[in-house]
Amino acid sequence: MFDRMSETNRGRIIERLAAWRQKQLTDTIQHIINFAKTPRDLKQEMDRFIIGQEQGKKVLATAIAFHYRRLGQALQEALLAGQGQDLDQILRQARTPKANVLLIGPTGCGKTYTAEVAAGLVGVPFVVADLTKFSETGYVGQNTGDILVDLLVASGGNPQIAQLGIVYLDEIDKIATEATAYRDVSGRGVQKGLLKLVEGVENTVELGQERLAMSTRHVLFIGGGVFDRLDQIVEQRLKRHGFAGPWQQQLLTEDLVVFGMERQLMGRFPVRVTYDLLTTQNLVEILTHSEDSPLLAYTADLKAWDIDLKFTPEALRAVALKAQQERTGARGLVNILHRVLGEDMFRLPGNFTGSLVVDEAYVRWRLA
Ligand SMILES: Nc1ncnc2c1ncn2[C@@H]1O[C@H](COP(=O)(O)OP(=O)(O)O)[C@@H](O)[C@H]1O
Ligand SMILES: [Mg+2]
Repeated sequence: MFDRMSETNRGRIIERLAAWRQKQLTDTIQHIINFAKTPRDLKQEMDRFIIGQEQGKKVLATAIAFHYRRLGQALQEALLAGQGQDLDQILRQARTPKANVLLIGPTGCGKTYTAEVAAGLVGVPFVVADLTKFSETGYVGQNTGDILVDLLVASGGNPQIAQLGIVYLDEIDKIATEATAYRDVSGRGVQKGLLKLVEGVENTVELGQERLAMSTRHVLFIGGGVFDRLDQIVEQRLKRHGFAGPWQQQLLTEDLVVFGMERQLMGRFPVRVTYDLLTTQNLVEILTHSEDSPLLAYTADLKAWDIDLKFTPEALRAVALKAQQERTGARGLVNILHRVLGEDMFRLPGNFTGSLVVDEAYVRWRLA
C-alpha cells in the first residue's frame, strides 16, 4: 500500500505522524511533571489488583512514586531554566539518582504483575525482558539492544518517551554465575552488558528505516527472580556470625554475590524486597476480588449469555488448593478455571439460561 501512495500523501502522513509524536511527547512530559501520587495513593490503587504482598506493594509504590516525582521536578526545572533547548538536551541535563528495585520471591506470586500494574497506574511505557533468552556468545537470541527496541515500540516509536519508561528484567537470577551454576561463567558477560544498560547508555536503535538515538539514563529498572536457595545463603552467613532472625530482613549484596550475581550490578539495585508464597486465602481472594480476576471475567462473559455463574466458597477453595498443588502460584488459576468451566462454556450458551452453581464436588470431578 505504502509504496503506491502519492508523494503528497506520503509527505502529509509523515508530517501528521511527527506532529502526533510531538503531541504524545508533550503529553507524557506534562503527565510526569504533574505526577503527584504519593506512595500511599499508588499502593491503594495497586490494592485493587494485587492481593497480599503488602511489603512488595509498599516498596514498589514508594520507589516508583519517588522516581517519577523526582523526574517530574527535574524536567520542570530544566524546562524553566533552558529557554529554547530541545528536549534531548533537557533530558540529558535532568539529574535523577535512580533507585532500581530487585524483587525476590516464588514464581507466580505477583512480581511482574505488581510492576506492570504500577507502570500502568503511573502511565509510562513498560516492557518485560526475559533474561533466560539472553546469552553471551555474541548474544545469540536476545541482547540488551533488543530491550531498547521493545521499549521504543512500547512508546509508539518515540525515543524520548521510551527514556521515561520502566523495564522489568524477568528471571534476573538466571544470569547468575557459579554458585547456582545455571550457566557458569557465561552469565558474567550478560551481567556486564546489563550493567551498562542499567547505568545508562546512549544508543542508536534501528526501527524500520529510522535510526533513533535513545538513552536509558532515566529508565527505571525492576529486576525479578526466584533466587532459589538464597535463603540458605543468608541463613548460613547469619549462623556463622551467631545471628538469627528472618533472612528476608538481613539480605545483603554479599549474599547476592555468593549466589552468583555481579557485585556492581547488584549495587545498582539498592532497593530489595521479598515476595511471599501466596496462601490459599490469597488465591481465593485473587479469584473473588482482584480487578483482573479470571473468575470475574468468566462470570461477566457468561452473563452475556444470561447465565449466572456462582462458585460456592468450598469450590473456590478447591480451585485455590489445586493451584497451590501445581506450584505455579496464581499463574495456574486461569488454566484450572478453564478446565473446570471449559465444557460448560462450549455447551451452555444458547441452551441454558439462569443460575449455574459450581460446588466443590463439581470442581473435583472436572479436575479429576
Ligand atoms: N498477588 C497477586 N494478586 C493478584 N493477582 C496475582 C498475584 N500474583 C500473581 N497474580 C496473577 O498471576 C499472574 C502471574 O503472576 P506474575 O506476576 O507474572 O508472577 P511472578 O511473580 O512469577 O512474576 C499475574 O498476571 C496475575 O494475573
Ligand atoms: Mg515474572
